Amino acid sequence: MAYQTITIEIEDYVALIRLNRPEALNALNSQLMGELADALTEADRNEKVRCIVLTGSEKAFAAGADIKEMAEKTFVEVYNDNIFGAEIDRITATRKPIIAAVSGYALGGGCELAMACDFIICSDNAKFGQPEINLGVIAGIGGTQRLTRFVGKSKSMDMHLTGRFMDAAEAERSGLVSRVVPAAKLIPEVLTVAKKIAEKSQIAAIAAKEAVNRAYETTLNEGILFERRSFQALFATDDQKEGMAAFLEKREAQFRDR
Ligand code: HXC
Repeated sequence: MAYQTITIEIEDYVALIRLNRPEALNALNSQLMGELADALTEADRNEKVRCIVLTGSEKAFAAGADIKEMAEKTFVEVYNDNIFGAEIDRITATRKPIIAAVSGYALGGGCELAMACDFIICSDNAKFGQPEINLGVIAGIGGTQRLTRFVGKSKSMDMHLTGRFMDAAEAERSGLVSRVVPAAKLIPEVLTVAKKIAEKSQIAAIAAKEAVNRAYETTLNEGILFERRSFQALFATDDQKEGMAAFLEKREAQFRDR
């Protein structure tokens, strides 16, 4: 499918999706969010994709929702449009792992979009923030909830109430990102991580993603029960037999997603 606001390259079972509105620092408008949701739905169905990387440009992952598109809207319009609500729900419904590779600004909806991915690797020039308060609004696609779960109440309140930016070192220290890499190496490093994930059993990768996400949705006991059942269910797969046999035979496993 031809997209105008994003690009997609697929290689070695990894789909690299780039947000591509350089004139607006990849600000998220309705076309981009629709195209991104469609691309992720397609990637989920595509057998040539086993892991997804979502990135922007060196200067900006995304500088937030498009303020020009939103500025004149009324309550009734944003309520009826459910602005980006359906799209972000489709994005988080993606079953395959998604890594956000963040360089430069990830602000407002851009920070929220990065947090809606499974984990974030950023470059040392990254800047995260929820500056919506400066526009007289608040985060609208999960920021108050996801940032709080990532970094805790105190830092999340600080970010949402002051609108200040967090640099890469603080983002790593506070658990918002899993790794920081030099800006020039961001994409090769993240593609290496994605290719490693793409080599795993896809069934186990999806089960791991579902189980970790349960930690945010349920009680500890329910989450542990969910994990235990998923772990047990994986013994119904050929990939479990192959993975364990390969270890015992001291060879690389050949997973077949069965
Ligand atoms: C529309 C944007 C934009 C945005 C940048 N641009 N951010 N356009 N929406 N969110 C445009 C600018 O208007 C400008 O276009 C061009 O991109 C370059 O931006 P500059 O400001 O000239 O760049 P710079 O001086 O380097 O500053 C970078 C910046 C700043 C610090 C990132 O652009 C900025 O503060 N942007 C807004 C960040 C923000 O408030 N995000 C939250 C949005 S609300 P022109 O045509 O003038 O050259 C949100 C809500 C989410 O995200 C919930 C949705 C449901």
